[in-house]
Amino acid sequence: MGDDAGRLWWQEGVIYQIYPRSFADSNGDGVGDLRGITGRLDYLRDLGVDAIWLSPINPSPMFDFGYDVSDYLGIAPEFGTLDDFRVLLAEAHARGIRIVLDLVMNHSSHLHPWFVESSSSRTSDKRDWYIWHDGRNGGPPNNWQASFGGGAWEWDEASRQFYLHSFLREQPDLNWRNPRVKQAAEDIVAWWLDVGVDGFRLDVINWFLKDEQLRDNPTKLLGRRPYDRQKHVYDRNRPETVDLVRWLRATVDRWPERMLVGEVYNEPPGNPELSASYYADGAGLHLAFDFSLLFSGWSADDFGRAIDAWEDVLSPACWPTYTLGNHDQRRVLSRYASDANRAARGRVAAALVLTLRGTPFLYYGEEIGMLDVKVPRSRLQDPLGKSYWPLPVGRDPARTPMQWSAEANAGFSPAEPWLPVHPDFAEINVERAEADPASLLRWYRELIRLRRDEPVLRRGSYRRLPQGTGVLGYVREHEGERVAVLLNFESRPRPAVLPTGASWRVLAASARRPRDRVAGGTIEVEADGVLIAKAGAPQARTLGSEGRARSAVGR
Ligand code: NOJ
Ligand code: CA
Repeated sequence: MGDDAGRLWWQEGVIYQIYPRSFADSNGDGVGDLRGITGRLDYLRDLGVDAIWLSPINPSPMFDFGYDVSDYLGIAPEFGTLDDFRVLLAEAHARGIRIVLDLVMNHSSHLHPWFVESSSSRTSDKRDWYIWHDGRNGGPPNNWQASFGGGAWEWDEASRQFYLHSFLREQPDLNWRNPRVKQAAEDIVAWWLDVGVDGFRLDVINWFLKDEQLRDNPTKLLGRRPYDRQKHVYDRNRPETVDLVRWLRATVDRWPERMLVGEVYNEPPGNPELSASYYADGAGLHLAFDFSLLFSGWSADDFGRAIDAWEDVLSPACWPTYTLGNHDQRRVLSRYASDANRAARGRVAAALVLTLRGTPFLYYGEEIGMLDVKVPRSRLQDPLGKSYWPLPVGRDPARTPMQWSAEANAGFSPAEPWLPVHPDFAEINVERAEADPASLLRWYRELIRLRRDEPVLRRGSYRRLPQGTGVLGYVREHEGERVAVLLNFESRPRPAVLPTGASWRVLAASARRPRDRVAGGTIEVEADGVLIAKAGAPQARTLGSEGRARSAVGR
């Protein structure tokens, strides 16, 4: 199902992340679930996305809301059953939508039977499935810190050793140097691929391997927490992880057209070189996240630098990804916009991720302009939010219920939802956005449709077009077709330059749509504005004539 050049859905498509607890609640318990998602597939089809990535749906005691798995082959009862999942998969595939699962295997839950067995005694058969060690000088084995705060080693009084946890103490790190752990992972991956899932998002892939000698991390001067005052060269980012990723890739490649996207997490400003290394020149991850774009300031220079750096470090065998939001970050419009410019900036942000060379990942609700919710202390759920309160570190604000309508609880659930709904839901909701031709949702749909209709937007090369202050410009080129994108990051009109020697047909423009065509040369881009234009002869275009037919996934 690839194009002539062999490009596949994960390069051609748009991927939409769903946080299952918060998308749609089908049984009125206030928690989103799989049947809820199935019930909203038509919405996703109409939006035009090609795949959804589900944050974890496995059974979990939910210390980290599913990122602490206690059974890799099951479905959390609050989300439904395996049958519900099979229905979701079949219904999604029937609409041409793939499903990517979150695979959280740097660590398991401390309640996973593997860890229960592993911690039962020093001689347990599964002892070396996790990372156990004696202390040093009466303290933990080394100076490693947990990324969620506190030391990374937990003392187990019963077996009188420490175990490693890079995140919560309820998330013991698996020992990926143990071939039996690899075998168990392979079995899990194979099992889900046989069920028919289209790929996996690998949680914190750059954490999987730790230094064999457990050396102390070097320290550095600046940083808010002890964790931030270390250089993470021994507790993560080990170069040998790339070999592990090659092996995972070879495993997944036994099934056709499946995809691995890895979260290569690095603190702001991101680390494109590190993320790029996980592609192993086409033999590693199909896709990797680098969060440089997400961590950029709202300026043409910052975004331009992040994009160019990512383009520069990726060899031709590697395909970029772009995202401006996920379940760990503040929502895009809460980070970048104010009441005055939100509507316009939402369009600029959408145009950015949807017209770059690479696979766009959207985060649920961003297409209607959902904002962070101020969650009162009494309703905090995220362990980070609770332990760092009142610092705004928690991730609950960006995980609140999808706003479907102006009905009670935003149409998410008849019951009080697990996290509060944003008070703006009567204005910001899907129903209203669908009815409003000028809504952000319509703009997302228009741009996604444009990507479908214009192969140059999906496949074209990327070249920066130098511009004056405030404007980011680039050209996408493919088989003689050329599209220019101009994005004004300032809240005042800015001059910009379109290449001369061509007449440009406007494909999409925010707010006012002044003309159908513009000549090359200097033009003005309106405040917080977008202009997407295609070079070419002045004949009329039949919409959709070049478009890809959307067909069901044949599995
Ligand atoms: C990264 C995930 O995105 C985050 O939500 C989670 O808390 C940590 N990994 C630990 O699994
Ligand atoms: Ca439910």
